[in-house]
Amino acid sequence: MNTTTETILDTEFKKDVYAGLTAFPKYLFSKYIYDKKGDKLFQDIMDLEEYYLTNSEFEIFTENKKAICELFRGNGHGFDLIELGAGDGKKTKVLLRHLDEDGFDFIYKPIDISENAINRLRDDLAKELPNVPVHPEKGEYFEVLERLHLYKVRKKVIMVLGSNIGNLLHPRAIDFLAHLRDTMNSEDLIFMGFDQKKEPQTILDAYNDPHGVTETFNKNLLERINKEMGGNFDLDKFKHWEVYDPESGTAKSYLIAKEAMSVRIDAIDLSVQFDPWETIHTEISQKYDYKIVEWLAEESGLEIVTSFVDSRNYFKDYVFRRK
Ligand code: AVJ
Repeated sequence: MNTTTETILDTEFKKDVYAGLTAFPKYLFSKYIYDKKGDKLFQDIMDLEEYYLTNSEFEIFTENKKAICELFRGNGHGFDLIELGAGDGKKTKVLLRHLDEDGFDFIYKPIDISENAINRLRDDLAKELPNVPVHPEKGEYFEVLERLHLYKVRKKVIMVLGSNIGNLLHPRAIDFLAHLRDTMNSEDLIFMGFDQKKEPQTILDAYNDPHGVTETFNKNLLERINKEMGGNFDLDKFKHWEVYDPESGTAKSYLIAKEAMSVRIDAIDLSVQFDPWETIHTEISQKYDYKIVEWLAEESGLEIVTSFVDSRNYFKDYVFRRK
């Protein structure tokens, strides 16, 4: 990379796109899917019958809200409920409503990478649950870790729902969990959703929906590059492809070039060549079983307190504390 390239790469997004598309094999980070359109597409995904994750975790919340809220209450001196990747808060609202009705002493701090999502959630909650104190913040996971240190006056509960952790391969997941642990006092809790290993076809169907929403969602990466960096990706020349390895539990998304082509991205002064059927790896969605979660906890200095599962054993929410 020469000096002119360095000055052109003036945002994290540009740097990552440049690095990912000049690498072999090519990759792009899934976190960049979520602009306004990406947020909307993910909402559509959550409404899909095939995308069982949302319904399963919603069921867990509805069935166990009492027990979950009691865990959060602990010694009764109040707590800060911090949610990383809050999105539209659909599942969290089940808990918030219960906490509100039962007069729990708490504040809710949703954090999301998407400014748009976080603003909508704030407006939404102001209308639906006006008594719940909401302190929203925009930020990325690793970015907000520092700020979590500030929440040490009273008990805190850190929530990461929807198997969002699944976007991280195990070493990064451990790094993330260990950092969370470092911000925790002995009574603090992590409440985290883990999508479970299951019939592989069920997993593939969740990421290969016949309505094409997931394909559009995945391609939003290319569309953002077109819109924000003067790219000329022809989206029709790429195919969305999902693979699931039942041994490792890793589901991977790809965009595959259906023919040879050259793509120009003006803002980063880059021409990218694609061979026929060359791939861009775009996302991982890790699936878990008890052994893996136990190992992740152990490696991060955490201890499993309890877990909640849905009726189909598709999805689990784990509660961790410092070991
Ligand atoms: C929001 C990261 C949990 O990996 O299941 C949905 C994103 N990707 N369909 C997931 C997603 C394709 C989702 N997470």
